[in-house]
Amino acid sequence: MARATGLEVTGLLSSKAQRAGPGWFGVPRSAEGRISLLGGFPEPSSLPREEILECARLALERDGVWALEYGATRGYELLVEQLLVKLRRDQGIAATPEQVLITAGASQALGLLVDALCDPGDVVLSEEPTWMGAVRIFRAAGVEVRPVPLGAQGIELDALAAILRELAAGGRRPKLLYLIPTFQNPTGVTMPLAARRELLALAYEHQLLVIEDDAYYDLRYEGERVPPLRALDDRGHVAYLGTFSKIMAAGMRLGWIVADPALVAAVAGLKPEGGTSPFAGAVAAQFCATGMLLEHVAELRVIYRERRDAMLRALSETMPEGVTWTRPEGGFFIWLTLPPGASAARVAERAAAAGVDVMPGSACSFFSSGDSALRLCYSFATTEQIGEGIARLAEAIREELAA
Ligand SMILES: Cc1ncc(COP(=O)(O)O)c(C=O)c1O
Repeated sequence: MARATGLEVTGLLSSKAQRAGPGWFGVPRSAEGRISLLGGFPEPSSLPREEILECARLALERDGVWALEYGATRGYELLVEQLLVKLRRDQGIAATPEQVLITAGASQALGLLVDALCDPGDVVLSEEPTWMGAVRIFRAAGVEVRPVPLGAQGIELDALAAILRELAAGGRRPKLLYLIPTFQNPTGVTMPLAARRELLALAYEHQLLVIEDDAYYDLRYEGERVPPLRALDDRGHVAYLGTFSKIMAAGMRLGWIVADPALVAAVAGLKPEGGTSPFAGAVAAQFCATGMLLEHVAELRVIYRERRDAMLRALSETMPEGVTWTRPEGGFFIWLTLPPGASAARVAERAAAAGVDVMPGSACSFFSSGDSALRLCYSFATTEQIGEGIARLAEAIREELAA
């Protein structure tokens, strides 16, 4: 008997799933023999395995049942408590529990916020280039993104003001502005304090909700701390996103939102699983409460500073004339701009053929535009690999310039 043919499920997909496209099932490990300057992954040997093991033991001994039960929607209680302490101490952000929601990483936080705020066709503003996860989230939401260029001081405020005026004149109100003001992904740029104040003034004038993604705030290697927008905002215009991915372990899949309680409640309503992994939350709470987080962040700053310096040194030793790059004070990324006429996509292909993976800048753009830049990540490769990888990349650029 002939087997019945299966159900054709692709025809059943929602317009959101169709816009998003299928998920990626690859395994995020660098292949043997390759040098990865690609993904913003924490340095593998720095991951605090022993400490997490100890924290898991403590969590289960001290509150075992509740770490293993379904948890409160806001997140594991002790983690919320510890997060409030951390935000006040490190970020200068005063928050109450009602303003907090623990999420499965900052990725979920942004995805849920966009779901809670946006319908297809709504206008949203975002700096560009930006984090490619945000590009995917806005694409899936079907919103109309108005990209705002980014300069050496972060988002260009004149351009932002012009777009806001133009939208207001057309009777359109943007739902939100998304930006990464500190150690931006992909450029590494940080907005100075004065620019932050100006941005908030614009947000107040135009009744604009700002989503501040602060995934890298704790990883500063030099220079003065600049307060997050959320710490400067006294009118509730900033929804603040953060993550334990870069400062504890990405595998914990824990992040957070700090926002107006009504927005937090709306986002929580879109979380079918309820509270994000109480077990991971209980472990993370111990990691914070025992002081391990502060110690670990101090170690990471040393590791990443060395790698950033290795990359900057290799760039200045090997890059041909006309290539420029940013000099980040923290975070994971350097943005490299090629001379006019060179194609970043082709350079990335040539580099890949030479065993070095880098991200073409178009992946960080809403309309896949901008073929003149590459994102280089120094968090994952060792200093030796960084030196070798940049030398091979410089060769790939030379070949592209000669072609
Ligand atoms: C700017 C930015 N936001 C959010 C994320 C996602 O973080 P999480 O691992 O918490 O989902 C990343 C990770 O690469 C990032 O660079």
